[in-house]
Formats: sequence, structure tokens, C-alpha cells
Amino acid sequence: MRLVPTKMITPEMTLAKPVYYNENIILNTGINNLYSFKKRLADLGINYVYINDEKSEGIIVNDIIRDETRQKSRGIIKETFSDIVLNKETNLKVIKNIITELIDDILNAEIIMSNLVDIKSYDSYTFEHSVNVAVLSILIAKSMDYNYNQLLQVGIGAILHDIGKILVPQDLIQKSCQLTEEEFNIVKEHVHLGYDYLTDRGKINPISRLIVLSHHERNDGSGYPQGLTADAIHRYAKITAIADVFDALTSDRIYRQRWSIRETVTYLLSNTDQFEYDIVNNFVKKVALYPNGTLVLLNNGWKAIVRSQNYGLPERPVIRVVEYETGQKIVNPPEINLLDEPELIIDNTYF
Ligand SMILES: [Fe+2]
Repeated sequence: MRLVPTKMITPEMTLAKPVYYNENIILNTGINNLYSFKKRLADLGINYVYINDEKSEGIIVNDIIRDETRQKSRGIIKETFSDIVLNKETNLKVIKNIITELIDDILNAEIIMSNLVDIKSYDSYTFEHSVNVAVLSILIAKSMDYNYNQLLQVGIGAILHDIGKILVPQDLIQKSCQLTEEEFNIVKEHVHLGYDYLTDRGKINPISRLIVLSHHERNDGSGYPQGLTADAIHRYAKITAIADVFDALTSDRIYRQRWSIRETVTYLLSNTDQFEYDIVNNFVKKVALYPNGTLVLLNNGWKAIVRSQNYGLPERPVIRVVEYETGQKIVNPPEINLLDEPELIIDNTYF
């Protein structure tokens, strides 16, 4: 299995994971006329799919949570957003139950370095982002040995972190270009709006609510709404801030292409004036810089697909070479553990 951009789908590829749109499966695993859906997928804003082909045979891409749990979570957060529009009380029980399911999936996953990038469509970005921020925040909290109740508090706050965005004029949220300063100031209000809503109607525990209010605060005081500095920011909000930035930067948006995981990790590690160093450091140990199934370019010009990970050494996975620098196709692709070949370096990912 491997990940390919939708525009690079070729006739010999079959679908390796279902494609969802608005919580419904629109294409199921194994369909072999995937090529004929290429345009439709692109039109729906689905820019990547997992496929099977000869080159990627036997490569396993593990998920940190089950597909069903991810879809269920998306549906629930979507419903929660629409409850707010209808001025209904947030159903804490449902939120709590889904966070419990996410935690159970994460605790059961035996993945040491994970593929943490979720494929999102433009239309349902906010819901998919909310779920991924919850997953990443729970994962970070787990890596810091938080107990179950703490994971629950972090998860609830993280999945609701941007809930106030539904109370901001939607044309600003959907805008496809950079916001003006005035518009950005309106969008910034989402933290207060979400916090106030949950205080009045949500019956959410105060620490989870604090995540909603403080996830844009930064250690150096450059964040909002209060411009708090390091010690004044709750640790849960610092965790969610890192998860939020990681997921936003590694996602395609209408106005910019996604950053690679390596660029994003470098960004977080080099901005420790804003993000808490020990939390970032704990997190990046869990992240596969080049997840299984990623197409990479080596410093000698070879193209390869990442086959598996070496724990603790995210720069040096095991790879399967699929094309030499001459463009010559390979009949029996060799697999190389980059731990054994120090002169070979991954220069870049292809997408
Ligand atoms: Fe936010």
C-alpha cells in the first residue's frame, strides 16, 4: 500500500483504503477501476488516496485509530457544530463517549512511530481537523504518561478547540485567500465565542474549556486572546496548540499546499520560544517523518517507497528502491535499511 496524489492515479492501481466524503464511503477498498474516478475525486477536493500496486506490495500503512472511529468522530463533531447553530445544548455524553473510543484505539495501537497525517477534503476540513487535533493531543498526553482521566480532559478540549468557529461569519472561515487584519481579528474571536458557549450551554469541565480559550496562546506572549506567557498557559492548552499547528501545516488548504512532516517538525523544534520544548520533543519522537508508503527521493537520485520504520531514528527508515537515477525501472526492487547505508540520505518526499 502507498499514498499517491489523486492526479497521479494510473490504471493499474486499486484502492487500498475506503474514500469517505461527508462521513459516507464513496469508494470502497479493492475497486479496480479507480482510474475512472480520478476527476470526480479531484473535484471533491480529495487530493490523496491510498492505493495498492505492484511497487508497494506487502507494505503496511498502520493507522493510529480505526477508520470507523475516525468517521464516527467526524460525524459527532459535525453534529455538535450544527447543535450550536441551532442553539441546542452540547451533548457532552456523546463527546465523552467518542473520546473514550479514540483513547482506547490509541492505547491499543502498537505503533511506535505513526503516520499522523489525515487526508482531508476541503469541504469538511474543520471537522476532520478537530478529530485529528484530538487524536494528536491524546497521543502527546499519552507520551507524557498522563492518566486516563487526564487523557479524557485533553481529548474533550482538543476535539472542541475550534468550536467557536461556527459562531464567526462563515464567509471568513471559508475564505480562499489571506484574511485582512480586520478579518483576522474577527476570526480570533472564535476562542472567546467557543469558551463562552461551552460555559453557558455545554457543561464541559473547566480544564477542557480552558483548551478552547487558550489554544492560540504562545510561550513568548505573542498569542491570543490574552497574550499569556509560558507559566500562565495551562499545559493542556500547550499540548493542543502543538497538535493544532502540526495538523494545520501538514494539511492542504485552498490557499497553500501542505508542508512535509519534516518541515513541520523542524518548524516546531525551531520555535521553542512559542511552543513548549519538552512537549514538542516528546511528540516528535512518535512521529514518522516519512510514513510507510511515502515516495521519497534519495541523495543519489534513486526513488524509493518507505517500507517500515526504525524506532527512534525517524530519518533512517527501511526503503524499497523503485527507480534508479537513470529512470530505469527495476524488476526485483531491492530493500535497503538506511541504518546500514549511512551515505544514503533522504533528500525529499515527492508529495
Ligand atoms: Fe483555533
